[in-house]
Amino acid sequence: MSIISKDIQKAVQLLTDEQLVAIPTETVYGLAGNIFSEKAIKSIFSTKKRPFFNPLIVHIPSVAILDDIVTHIPQKAKLLANAFWPGSMTLVLKKSSKIPDLITAGKDTVAVRVPNHPTTLALLSNLDFPLAAPSANPFGSISPTKAKHVEGYFKNAIKMVLDGGSCTNGIESTIIGFENDEPIIYRLGALSLEDIEAVVGKVSVKNKKEDKPDAPGMLARHYAPKTRTFLVNDVALEVQNHPNKKIGVLVFHQSLQDAALTEIVLSKKGSMQEAASNLYASMHELDHQNLDVIIAERFPEEGLGKSINDRLQRATFSS
Ligand code: TXA
Ligand code: MG
Repeated sequence: MSIISKDIQKAVQLLTDEQLVAIPTETVYGLAGNIFSEKAIKSIFSTKKRPFFNPLIVHIPSVAILDDIVTHIPQKAKLLANAFWPGSMTLVLKKSSKIPDLITAGKDTVAVRVPNHPTTLALLSNLDFPLAAPSANPFGSISPTKAKHVEGYFKNAIKMVLDGGSCTNGIESTIIGFENDEPIIYRLGALSLEDIEAVVGKVSVKNKKEDKPDAPGMLARHYAPKTRTFLVNDVALEVQNHPNKKIGVLVFHQSLQDAALTEIVLSKKGSMQEAASNLYASMHELDHQNLDVIIAERFPEEGLGKSINDRLQRATFSS
């Protein structure tokens, strides 16, 4: 029997019983549990095979709850929260003593966001605790943007995937931390740098590959398909380097018109928003076709293109 269901009351019941439920958000599906239940939080880490040093994002129903979660809200954090919540932005702020150390991996900060999905907002307002939810994929694999991706990953290891359709934004939230009250981007994501700067002015970006990253989502190889993946400017040229191979190609808007290739065009009309929304589902699809290689086209380095390139880069073996 499928674990996919639209029953919000059943999700409330399971979460109240300290069980896990996969929840839809506008970015990717999350694997959710009660932040105050040690049992639920430990089971998030074990189900995902995620290392304990990697902290979780706390999901709340509205900005009004923020005062319970954090001790200090810089002025620019207030501006950002008012501008973009509910939405695809996570703020990393000084944590209140109520937040268990297990959530934050012992850090004195906590990551928090108000997701913009009607089903999950309804769920959150029916609970008297916030939800910790990392992306609902095993550590290191492609994030899920459809309920069936989550079911494919976890089968009977969880009791329920709350079905909210396909994730409209399709890549993870943009994570913003603060140093001396000034915003710093820790992870590029579904909210573009340009949109953020329009509200708070110039921000610096620390979205680097690091061994001990501030946001471990920044680990160099993450979001990865099993099939060997290349990221290039000129896909047709790269195809020539793989003679006699079964090749999948992932392009932005222009088809290569080559019947020998398994091709996915991310947005025929050339919309980065649509491309981001289709990105992970397309990677899942190509990864399940027994191909020898996947060749992905690099996006223009502007707006969401930067975030898409970041995810594609982490999906590759090289560089
Ligand atoms: O869009 C999203 O953010 C999705 C949906 C489900 O909300 N969640 C998500 O969670 O992507 P996850 O666990 O896959 O990524 C959370 C990232 C990790 O890279 C983690 O290191 C970072 O947030 N993070 C969490 N707490 C942090 C903290 N206190 N300081 C710095 N980074 C933190
Ligand atoms: Mg993740």
